[in-house]
Amino acid sequence: MPFLVSGTVDALGAGVDDVAVGDRVVGFLPMTGTGAAAEYVIASAEILTGAPGNIPLADAAAFPLVALTAWQALFDHGKLTAGQRVLINGAGGAVGGYAVQLAREVRAHVIATAGPRSAERVRAAGADEVIDHTTTDVTAAVTEPADLVVNLAPVAPEQLGALVTLIRDGGTLVNTAVWMPAPSDEERGVRGIDLFVRSDADQLADLAARISTGELRVDVAQRVALADLPALHARAGAGELPGKTVVLAPTA
Ligand SMILES: NC(=O)c1ccc[n+]([C@@H]2O[C@H](COP(=O)([O-])OP(=O)(O)OC[C@H]3O[C@@H](n4cnc5c(N)ncnc54)[C@H](OP(=O)(O)O)[C@@H]3O)[C@@H](O)[C@H]2O)c1
Repeated sequence: MPFLVSGTVDALGAGVDDVAVGDRVVGFLPMTGTGAAAEYVIASAEILTGAPGNIPLADAAAFPLVALTAWQALFDHGKLTAGQRVLINGAGGAVGGYAVQLAREVRAHVIATAGPRSAERVRAAGADEVIDHTTTDVTAAVTEPADLVVNLAPVAPEQLGALVTLIRDGGTLVNTAVWMPAPSDEERGVRGIDLFVRSDADQLADLAARISTGELRVDVAQRVALADLPALHARAGAGELPGKTVVLAPTA
């Protein structure tokens, strides 16, 4: 079920004055609700922010979840700052693209893992080093400790555990593959954190502004009609959907 929405405000509830009818907005709907696979969606005004003006409105729905995940991993949990070293494991995916761009923006040194199909894109996003996870043992390839490791990849729990050894004393591992718990190393003060992304309109506004200025790039793998949603779910279930797919509602 999609929970990201972009569109034009059609009507307002009572007491809403920070958005207006006709505004182009984007938002991350509560995952406990009915989702955004519809021509019209009811959304709380607090979760909405202005959509970037330099990309098609429908494409704006592609960034909130993945960009917020990247932001919260790097900065809310990882506390990444200029000059630090961050290893982004699984940088070839949708979250990884934003994580690499945002980490570079704060002038961190970015080490990324990416397979052959993604390596060029990850390099173009600004990674300083790219390790091919299909041919190389990441734990052997990283020779200097990282301040932060962000795991975005569907690795085995023992591989996730091995990433902890790449982190300096007092550093952090942030894991988004939350079906396995993030390991820690208490003796060395390395904290493992499981990330559950949350909707945050202020962060979304910041990200939208970065997209508007061209600082952040939005990647859309494909666009499909709302009527084709069942087939899309089937392909997603079969693992055949890399990157972000935008579902287009019929125009009135
Ligand atoms: N907890 C949360 O709140 C939250 C929120 C958003 C996403 N997530 C999770 O975060 C993860 C990343 O999301 P995403 O949207 O970026 O997924 P994605 O687009 O499927 O990207 C994952 C990437 O991992 C890479 N990969 C696969 N096996 C690998 C390995 N052994 N080592 C290193 N990289 C490997 C692949 O890139 P290559 O092309 O380079 O092989 C793939 O593109 C997913 O597990 C997703 O479910 C969690």
